[in-house]
Amino acid sequence: MIQFSHARLCCLGVLSKVPHAPSASMRRNNGLKIRWAVKGPCQFEPGHRQWDVETELIDVRELPMKLDDAGEQMKDPKFSAAIERCDGLIIVTPEYNHGYPGLLKHALDMNLKEYIHKAVGICGVSAGPFGGARVIEGLLPVMRELGLVAIFEDVNFGNVAKIFDDQGNLLDQNYVRRLDKFLNELVWMARVLRHGRENIPGA
Ligand SMILES: Cc1cc2nc3c(=O)[nH]c(=O)nc-3n(C[C@H](O)[C@H](O)[C@H](O)COP(=O)(O)O)c2cc1C
Repeated sequence: MIQFSHARLCCLGVLSKVPHAPSASMRRNNGLKIRWAVKGPCQFEPGHRQWDVETELIDVRELPMKLDDAGEQMKDPKFSAAIERCDGLIIVTPEYNHGYPGLLKHALDMNLKEYIHKAVGICGVSAGPFGGARVIEGLLPVMRELGLVAIFEDVNFGNVAKIFDDQGNLLDQNYVRRLDKFLNELVWMARVLRHGRENIPGA
């Protein structure tokens, strides 16, 4: 019988954008709310399921990135070590003009071998009703090239300004169920791939 120990998940997010934009504080709040929404279920199990997971949160805006360089040349030892030790990633990304923010791609490009044969699930965030469905589709080929294995569940935070109250409480409880499904699938895939990395030769 296979015994699985707990899984380590890394939540990588563009949690807000340009700090000095006129509505930046509202946007930053969106980021914090999403941060709770994704991290909360891992830690406080609002659904009926209990996961044995450890989570780590990385806001890509806080990573040391240069504009005149790209890829592994910008490798940051702390960031690389976080990706190296995780079994799966949750990417939380806003949709910018139907695509992913350049900042997220710039950050993802900083690592390579650290991602291989690890699970990834994507949460899209958008002002509009589609919850970042287009940014998620656009990210999938990138995930594949990085060696990540994308799960078939996503979470779409559409109309993001309306789904939390001012204190950051989730107004739409349907998201608890959606996050539950998403995390259940992600944790399963993360454990399966960890078992593969540790036990199946040739990877
Ligand atoms: C440059 C830019 C492009 C955007 N493009 C879209 C879009 O294509 N579809 C959409 O629904 N929302 C779009 N939005 C709205 C963001 O998805 C929304 O503001 C979301 O909350 C992003 O999180 P943030 O504001 O914390 O960065 C865009 C916002 C910006 C700044």
